[in-house]
Amino acid sequence: MIRLDHVIEAQQFTREGLLDLFREADQMKLLVKEQGCTETLHNKVMVVLFYQPSTRTRLSFETAMVRLGGRYVSTENALDFSSHAKGESLEDTINTVVNYGDVVVLRYHKEGGAARAAKVSPVPIINAGDGPGQHPTQALLDIYTIQNAFHRVDGIKVALVGDLKHGRTVHSLAYMLGKFNVAKIYMVSPENVRMPEALTEYLDRHGIACEACDELLPVAHDVDVVYTTRVQREYFEDLTEFQEAYGKYVLTDEVMDELPKESIILHPLPRNDEIPFKLDRDVRAHYFEQVENGLYVRMALLELLLLK
Ligand code: CP
Repeated sequence: MIRLDHVIEAQQFTREGLLDLFREADQMKLLVKEQGCTETLHNKVMVVLFYQPSTRTRLSFETAMVRLGGRYVSTENALDFSSHAKGESLEDTINTVVNYGDVVVLRYHKEGGAARAAKVSPVPIINAGDGPGQHPTQALLDIYTIQNAFHRVDGIKVALVGDLKHGRTVHSLAYMLGKFNVAKIYMVSPENVRMPEALTEYLDRHGIACEACDELLPVAHDVDVVYTTRVQREYFEDLTEFQEAYGKYVLTDEVMDELPKESIILHPLPRNDEIPFKLDRDVRAHYFEQVENGLYVRMALLELLLLK
């Protein structure tokens, strides 16, 4: 089993480590279905420190801890309700909360927050999103969902769609796909929010075929996974730039007709108008399965970090 001190970025994981973690997540799914909860982390406390809003990440980590018999303390709006509002540095906040808990789940509003926290923390830091940087535990559940759907990740073709510049979920997912022999990644985005160069260079070094394109429709027939995302309004300084990127990649009937029958649609959520609600009934819609899988993967990850 992979050993990790902190979870900061997707590149930390090895292919074998991911497959081990997914086997543990399968066990967590059985555990939840059959007995609901266990006591393996009964003596552990998790600190949840969120400087940005969240529904899925925060509540799934808290649920994961409770189902494993542990406890948590949480601040859901640390920008306003922690001593950040009084000018405290992230480092001082981390140096404080490590006295209370055995692991810290941190969502920070700026890229690099989790890495800064890890530098001063004697307990594991889990990056639950650092501004437009990364969201590695989202990528874990994304790849787990792909693995469950196709029983493999190698050989698949993926379209990453939307705001690829600011989307931390697509950054982590692309890095993690680079650990497998995926057949192709289409990077579908408006010109002004293309995937960062560091990431495309990384995929190139790992031998992954990538193609940047403006439109989803012409490539839809050739994908196994459509990973669509919200345009990240909060990171645009220029409203015109946001408007140029917004509303471009709705999964219309025309796109759905092109998507193969066996393909799957993923979305980290929350969605805006990328996926019409009527598609929730389409067998290709797997985004609420992603939500469910987030619980199992995060349970497996907490055990990995806290029972070593
Ligand atoms: N996918 C995701 O990070 O969702 P939340 O912002 O609701 O946590």
